[in-house]
Amino acid sequence: MTPFEQKIQSHRLVPVVSLPDVNSGLKLAEILVNCKMQVAEITFRTAHAAKGIAEMKNHFPQLLLIAGTVLTPDQVDSAVDAGAEAIVSPGTDCSIISHCQSLNIPVIPGICTPSEVQLALSMGVTRLKFFPAELCGGIKMIKTLVSVYQNISLMPTGGIRFDNMKAYLSIDRVFCCGGTWLAPESMMAAGDWQGIEKRIKAAVTALQTE
Ligand code: 3PG
Repeated sequence: MTPFEQKIQSHRLVPVVSLPDVNSGLKLAEILVNCKMQVAEITFRTAHAAKGIAEMKNHFPQLLLIAGTVLTPDQVDSAVDAGAEAIVSPGTDCSIISHCQSLNIPVIPGICTPSEVQLALSMGVTRLKFFPAELCGGIKMIKTLVSVYQNISLMPTGGIRFDNMKAYLSIDRVFCCGGTWLAPESMMAAGDWQGIEKRIKAAVTALQTE
């Protein structure tokens, strides 16, 4: 297993975050470190992703920061320059995968069909994001995919919340789960940091009693 694979696997749960501004990234980073959930996927769905990753990494180097919703090779470059340790994409895009491979940065492409799994496998990638998990058959679909493709492991996201995270995490070849419910953009924009901290703490506590 690569050092990145070991790290991501040790976290289990990854908040998927769309930053309304850079300062929100810093505030969230502080909460994540205090609550001992030292990981986040910062999505390129807002214009603050690259700067947010750079600032978060600068102030909290212990955080594992992944760039999410990466849709172009240029965004891969910005994410890597900002200090992201891995790239996540919602779909299977060969130009993104091969660019990440040329930069030697871990890439987790999104899949939700057998053909997409095979496309990723043909490029040598076995750690995949299963997205959107709940809409694409959820746990039943994961069990089917991992029984057919015996060398893949999956990071489901999309519809995962406090109530179903443990069911997903109980599947052997699910290496972690992701979700926006831990730190929604609307709660960050409204400054509801107490509410976010409560959600993160609840998840950490639930995982400790797994
Ligand atoms: C993702 O990009 O991983 C998804 O937007 C997460 O889906 P969720 O909003 O249902 O958690």
